[in-house]
Amino acid sequence: MKPLTIALSKGRIFKETLPLLKAAGIELLEDPEKSRKLVFETTRADVNIIIIRATDVPPYVQYGAADIGVAGKDVLMEHGAEGIYEPLDLRIAQCKLMVAALKDAPEVDGRVRVATKFVNITRRYYASQGRQADVIKLYGAMELAPLVGLADRIVDIVDTGNTLRANGLEPTELICEISSRLIVNRASMKTRQKEIGEILRAIEAAVDANQEQALLATE
Ligand code: ATP
Ligand code: PRP
Repeated sequence: MKPLTIALSKGRIFKETLPLLKAAGIELLEDPEKSRKLVFETTRADVNIIIIRATDVPPYVQYGAADIGVAGKDVLMEHGAEGIYEPLDLRIAQCKLMVAALKDAPEVDGRVRVATKFVNITRRYYASQGRQADVIKLYGAMELAPLVGLADRIVDIVDTGNTLRANGLEPTELICEISSRLIVNRASMKTRQKEIGEILRAIEAAVDANQEQALLATE
């Protein structure tokens, strides 16, 4: 049988997912930071890891090119859930999806102009509130848009709030809390239930252990 394929993205998700995979006996044989390769073998002959862009993880899993993936809830909400199971909250890469504006910006009467890379989430959010919004798609540096008059508001990820503050912005509305999720291709979940189930259980136990440790540390 072909190896199970797990899709990860470089950066914070990658670093925080490695210890969880280790709990399932899955460790990379090579350091992706030191390689131009995109497919990596692991300590388990039946499991490969592919490294792709964060926003590409849902389509790879949806179409079955990867059986399992790890993606931020923001990326999943933006992509949609077709063909994808989301069985596990990994509680990593935690942040918030927020609306932000220039500090002390006035309310906007009528249509509001919103710059974001999350156009689907933003359209749904404003529609759910019965507010009219023109959504402008950007690919990065959203914080600049209100400063130069491109938009009244932005929708972006906020963690410490430092990026907003550094640019004279402040959060105005919480859209939702975000963390990274383990996702599984719907067909793989049925055809490779045993292997995937074992990996899920091992990772879930590691997530629970992390939670307990975090609780103890705050006591
Ligand atoms: P790409 O590399 O394709 O541009 P990205 O920059 O969104 O993607 P990361 O910065 O690694 O990739 O973010 C991955 C996920 O981590 C995001 O989808 C989000 O869920 C979460 N995240 C993003 N920024 C933060 C942050 N500052 N603190 C905590 N979690 C974050
Ligand atoms: C993310 C996100 C925000 C920032 C928020 O960017 O896009 O800009 O973090 O974090 P803060 O509230 O702690 O400042 P990141 O640092 O991942 O860089 P990126 O633009 O490459 O995604």
